[in-house]
Amino acid sequence: MTGAATTQTFRTAIVPAAGLGTRFLPATKAVPKELLPVVDTPGIELVAAEAAAAGAERLVIVTSPGKDAVVRYFEKQPELEENLESKGKTALLEKVRRGHDLLAVETAIQEQALGLGHAVAQAEPNLRPDDEAVAVLLPDDLVLPTGVLEKMSAVRAEFGGSVLCAFDIPKAEISPYGVFDVTDTDDDDVKRVHGMVEKPKPEDAPSTYAAAGRYLLDRAIFDALKRITPGSGGELQLTDAVALLISEGHPVHVVVHRGGRHDLGNPGGFLRAAVDFALETPEYGPSLRAWLTERIGTERP
Ligand code: G1P
Repeated sequence: MTGAATTQTFRTAIVPAAGLGTRFLPATKAVPKELLPVVDTPGIELVAAEAAAAGAERLVIVTSPGKDAVVRYFEKQPELEENLESKGKTALLEKVRRGHDLLAVETAIQEQALGLGHAVAQAEPNLRPDDEAVAVLLPDDLVLPTGVLEKMSAVRAEFGGSVLCAFDIPKAEISPYGVFDVTDTDDDDVKRVHGMVEKPKPEDAPSTYAAAGRYLLDRAIFDALKRITPGSGGELQLTDAVALLISEGHPVHVVVHRGGRHDLGNPGGFLRAAVDFALETPEYGPSLRAWLTERIGTERP
């Protein structure tokens, strides 16, 4: 409950975590992909920490039946804590408590995999009357350095409506994303959005600005989510609900994030993130760097 943002516009963050994690099979037969460790910390804790640092007090995790381990991860573990305390393992104790202490976690269940828009819609009953806007963080996306949600809050405070995070992506690589039709504002990093399309072919993409897993959505999104029909991939797309709001005059802007990102949604991206984070730790960084340098210079038969 750090509430670092000067223009706080949300208290509730939603993390859709209902996917089957097929790209991580067979590991995801037993372990939800959101719990796979980036060094020693599950990706979902990194995302929860980002939301808490931006002022979120509550996290609604949308899971599917059988993925309750994701929510259990955030529960207190008194026996484990007592055990570590009695052995004087204070650094580990601090790590064990961290997830639980970040913010209050609630669950919503998505019974059927009908798309990201459908997943977000499942969190509506968890909202409080004073939730005028909510943050949505996709746990596959790590946006670095953190802090983009604070900037997005400031943009909502200025322009109202909804604010999304965008990355400038080479046109040839744009197809896996939701893509924005934009015009400039006075701020080079803030664009006005006139339309949004999910997973276009490169030649149909309205720009090179792609949605990157961070959304600050006006509560009106929940009404729009009830009015969309299946779109790309036959799924109910969050992109289409945003596009519907735009077509009705709802202001939408993007904050263009110029930093880095990791895609935790596939083993290749996940490994990069793990190596990147490990290189920054005093515990594993130096020896990993030395080993990687040697390994890369060594041809394997
Ligand atoms: C989702 C969204 C897409 C967004 C992307 C960011 O797609 O539908 O608009 O650009 O996340 O990672 P997915 O990756 O679930 O296919």
